Amino acid sequence: MNTEELFGLAPVVPVVVLDDADHAVPLARALVDGGLPAIEVTLRTPAAVESIERIAAEVPDAVVGAGTVVTAGDAERSLKAGARFLVSPGCTPRLRAAMADTGLPFLPGVSSASEAMALLEEGVTAMKFFPAEPAGGVPYLKALGGPLPQITFCPTGGIRPGNAADYLALPNVGCVGGTWLTPSDAVRAGDWDRVRALAAEAAELRPA
Ligand code: 3PG
Repeated sequence: MNTEELFGLAPVVPVVVLDDADHAVPLARALVDGGLPAIEVTLRTPAAVESIERIAAEVPDAVVGAGTVVTAGDAERSLKAGARFLVSPGCTPRLRAAMADTGLPFLPGVSSASEAMALLEEGVTAMKFFPAEPAGGVPYLKALGGPLPQITFCPTGGIRPGNAADYLALPNVGCVGGTWLTPSDAVRAGDWDRVRALAAEAAELRPA
């Protein structure tokens, strides 16, 4: 899989924070059933790596990735756990090299033209735009598309059902990401029907 194929999986990539690895499989099934197969499990909790392992092993229709990859070690352990793509909130030369070494598609985070150009120099043309809303939102991303049309972004940070379609309408947006698909109270309560319904609504934002 390359980043273009990753962007083609669905208009929205759920960004997931899991405190309990027992939630990983039913949550992933609900997202996949709702129409969102690409799932970013953030490495923000002790349960993250085991959650990635379980989804990779038990939910064959899911394409599970690792998010909040901030060190070379994070990239390596994500690969070992079975992650199929990597996402980071920012980027350093060392992290970019480590992510590239995994052979997985990866989305390094940027929020400025200079950061994006530093990655372009390394041949990277797919990036996360983070934090999307605080950094300038749709008008900012649209403006970056003028001089840098060769970059495709996955904006995340502050994206919700009310503004997702505006991002997806931009030619330089491949997909959007966000945590709204998996509200923490729904996850804690095991309310997978609610997660499935939120995913189904998001999957309609644009044909995959
Ligand atoms: C991310 O890492 O992409 C963000 O935490 C997503 O933030 P959100 O809660 O605003 O969707």
